[in-house]
Amino acid sequence: PGSFDPITNGHLDIIRRAAALFDEVIVLVAENKDKHGFFTPQERMEMIRLATAELPNVRVDYTDGLLIDYLRKTGAEAVVKGLRAMSDFEYEFQMALTNRRLLAKCETIFLPAADESMYVSSSIVRQVCGMGGDISSFVPAVIHDEIVRKITGK
Ligand code: PNS
Repeated sequence: PGSFDPITNGHLDIIRRAAALFDEVIVLVAENKDKHGFFTPQERMEMIRLATAELPNVRVDYTDGLLIDYLRKTGAEAVVKGLRAMSDFEYEFQMALTNRRLLAKCETIFLPAADESMYVSSSIVRQVCGMGGDISSFVPAVIHDEIVRKITGK
């Protein structure tokens, strides 16, 4: 689960590795009430679909509810999250423990980010692109032009 606003190469690395570990992976676009999204949920889902098209056991979904309610509804067995730096840890640990308090069987599995993705984030992508910088090494090639078009209007 994540905001994926938009999906980055860091997300894609975690999704690929999760797809090698699990029979099926659902990339869930979920609402983070602390963030005001730039792309619509539909745009984010479509970009994730394009970026993960070659992964047969990956599908994309959306929820505007609690993650644990989605797990209950679908029977998904684990939550996979990528961790970039220690700065991610406190927030992710808080969410993992909250989710487990709300749903006892909810386990969160953390995968360390690839070293080349350590500093990549959706907000950095939006900021660099919006100010005319090159984001081609941060986002999947198949959605690069669409992201640039939507952010810059060009
Ligand atoms: O990419 P993000 O913004 O760090 O992802 C956070 C997200 C969307 C996974 C989190 O906000 C979430 O799980 N939202 C769904 C609503 C929910 O269950 N909130 C309580 C989390 S403890």
